[in-house]
Amino acid sequence: MQKPNKRLEQQTCIITGSSGGIGAAVAKALGTEGANIVVNYRSSKEAAEEVAHWVNSHQSCGEAIVLKCDVSKEEDVKALFKQTISHFGTVDVCVANAGLQIDHPLHEMPLEAWKKVLDVNLTGQFLCAKEAINEFLRRGMREEVSRSLGKIIHMSSVHEEIPWAGHANYAASKGGLLMLMESICQAYAPHKIRCNSIAPGAIKTDINKDVWSTEQGKEDMLKLIPYKRIGVPEDIGSVASWLASDESEYINGTTIFVDGGMTCYPGFTTNG
Ligand code: BGC
Repeated sequence: MQKPNKRLEQQTCIITGSSGGIGAAVAKALGTEGANIVVNYRSSKEAAEEVAHWVNSHQSCGEAIVLKCDVSKEEDVKALFKQTISHFGTVDVCVANAGLQIDHPLHEMPLEAWKKVLDVNLTGQFLCAKEAINEFLRRGMREEVSRSLGKIIHMSSVHEEIPWAGHANYAASKGGLLMLMESICQAYAPHKIRCNSIAPGAIKTDINKDVWSTEQGKEDMLKLIPYKRIGVPEDIGSVASWLASDESEYINGTTIFVDGGMTCYPGFTTNG
């Protein structure tokens, strides 16, 4: 657990898909900064409640509540923001994290698998960003709390840059996020909204468990990571809390890769 240093006191953060994995670590990390936390889940209510309980039982943290929402549904996302605002008063930080993989070779990929991944990973992040921007603009500046009107963090992936055969729907959704994030920055930075992405590499979560949980899979994964360590969700949590805070105020419209060097293409070290 990172040291509590109160960088997000009196701020409210929605973290979508935070019942487990990277989202849960981000929720705990932002909570540790003193923020109020909305733990969002789609189906894992009990796991979400555990994350909220963790936040609520740590003194340095703000208050956590649990809200259900399928980010691919506009009415759900609207309700998520409405309930958050009625409970906490406003939203200061939106971490659009919910995402999934449904992998198939392209020539066998059912249209449904393509659509589902785009709906959650890209449309879901658009819907959350849209609601967040509307709330930031409605609420106006709270200089005593932050020098920015609001902060949006998109959870992207190294696959916004690295092509990924067998996962074209996922890679396309993350590539799309890059342009979504940059376009938001271009339009709303003059309003003092900050919009950035975090691009995790191989982080040990359920999404890639079938790979890291076997000896062979782990060995293959490590070949892709110059730093020779598979990441853990807390690696992302600590970057997210800094990126949400005023310490990173002048960072806008950027992707921060948190990948142990994966995007430096280690396969080329002795070849090519
Ligand atoms: C994917 C993981 C994968 C990692 C590195 C992530 O975005 O969700 O399954 O291990 O990228 O390839």
